[in-house]
Amino acid sequence: MITISKPKLTVPGPRFAPVFGRIAQTINFVSDSVGVSSQLFKAYGSVVSLVQGGGTNVYSPHANCPGTVVAYGPDIVREVTTQHNVYHKCPLIGSLYSRRNDSERTEPFGHFLVGLFGVNNDLHRQHRQLLMPAFHKQRIESYRDDMVKIVLSELEQLKVGEVVNIAEFMQRLTMRVATKTLFGKDVNEDNGNLIRLLKRFGKQLTNPLSTVLPIDFPGFPYHNLLNAMQLLDEEMRSIIRERYASSVDGGDIISMLVQAKDAESGLTLSEDELLGHVTAIFVAGHDTSANELTWILFLLSQHPDIAADLLDELENVLGGEAPTVEKLQKLPLLDRVVKESLRVLTSIPWNGRVTSQPTTLGGYELPAGTEVWVSIYHTHQMPEIYPEPERFLPQRWETIQPTMYEYNPFSTGSRVCIGAGFAMMEIKIVLAMLLMRYRLQLITEKPVNAKGFIVMAPENGMFMKVHKQDRQFNQGVGGVSGNIRKMVNLID
Ligand code: HEM
Repeated sequence: MITISKPKLTVPGPRFAPVFGRIAQTINFVSDSVGVSSQLFKAYGSVVSLVQGGGTNVYSPHANCPGTVVAYGPDIVREVTTQHNVYHKCPLIGSLYSRRNDSERTEPFGHFLVGLFGVNNDLHRQHRQLLMPAFHKQRIESYRDDMVKIVLSELEQLKVGEVVNIAEFMQRLTMRVATKTLFGKDVNEDNGNLIRLLKRFGKQLTNPLSTVLPIDFPGFPYHNLLNAMQLLDEEMRSIIRERYASSVDGGDIISMLVQAKDAESGLTLSEDELLGHVTAIFVAGHDTSANELTWILFLLSQHPDIAADLLDELENVLGGEAPTVEKLQKLPLLDRVVKESLRVLTSIPWNGRVTSQPTTLGGYELPAGTEVWVSIYHTHQMPEIYPEPERFLPQRWETIQPTMYEYNPFSTGSRVCIGAGFAMMEIKIVLAMLLMRYRLQLITEKPVNAKGFIVMAPENGMFMKVHKQDRQFNQGVGGVSGNIRKMVNLID
């Protein structure tokens, strides 16, 4: 824990009234982080304080956080992602982590969603090394068959002529893939108990009142959160203990982690640490892919020529069959479509850190404990790196080769997303299988608003009509409203 008094932030930013103004600005940022920061960057430059003088805390578990800084650009990305001892990460549970010692019921905050996000320096290096075998290329490729099976069973549930919320559909699909590969359990096989518990926990956790009003009394969201966490904790411990008892590698990630041991130091993971890793990987591993898949299908629905070329490639190479690992390497346009979508509408717009010591960023002094949010989204929108950045142009990847500081949808450096290979394989398998079977026509009744903080998601869902694949790609093009119009060039 960092112990500091609260020094003032000198990074420029807008003025707000001391208490309510700052709270209002924090809430605005959390609900529309990309929109709010776009305005800040325009007014103040590429390194901005959410509020002049600081005094905000969006996420940090450190009580004496001096404030929140948002920044973008390759130089900033380099400064932050190469100085791991200066820019620390925090558990995904955010500020609730600081409540872990409040009572017996809050103890799980000490491990839930901690995982790799909650360890730094040598400990991060050691834990990452223990986890790496579960994410090696060959191990990830071994999940291909499970992915294909689940995708097929979900696609079979889509009915031609129906309007479906594709954002919800993708959540369910990626959750099934994650529970199967992580826990060795397809939700369809355990009557949905685990998924119910995970959903209940997720719903309570994302309720802002759970954080703002930490009152453990019936009727309060925080009380419901603690109840949900207790049930999930028990269920997940029982899965982990089963794996400890059997000592057989069931092919899932937990099986690997219970046996993980560092050859040099002899380090193994405690049950709590394992629980922390598994919950963090689950959360980081399904919502991200679900939202990216939703954005890709939205972009394709508004770019009929690209959709047609992509279907040609898929049919030529795959002939209607699910892709094998080898065939996935032979789909260059699919690769460019995914890369460009991750540039234009990345599901994770931010790379978050807390400074462990005083430092400078972009020439400004930052006190220890400052929250720093580096915008992946705005770095991907720089016209000097990507001409006409608001256009969705997969073909730009035939000629450009941005550096890892210019293009980093999975972050970069030693904290690069450990699941990047998993996500790319999953996204490509889902797209290939879905597009060869169905055409999805966007229903434009509701505005498309890209909102959120940790994950950028369509606020009103993404409703699409399911057609048999008939190549009528011009249907449903145009007429899109919402803040998406400021982010991507679309046909009227
Ligand atoms: C489209 C899908 C995904 C995107 C865009 C994405 C993006 C990212 C980004 C930007 C980070 C760095 C965050 C930061 O440092 O603040 C990250 C870290 C991480 N991601 Fe992903 N991710 C995706 C899918 C996955 C999947 C499928 C898994 C696991 C199965 C996963 C597990 C993790 C973990 C454990 C970390 C922490 C790594 C560390 O700190 O060493 N992610 N991801």
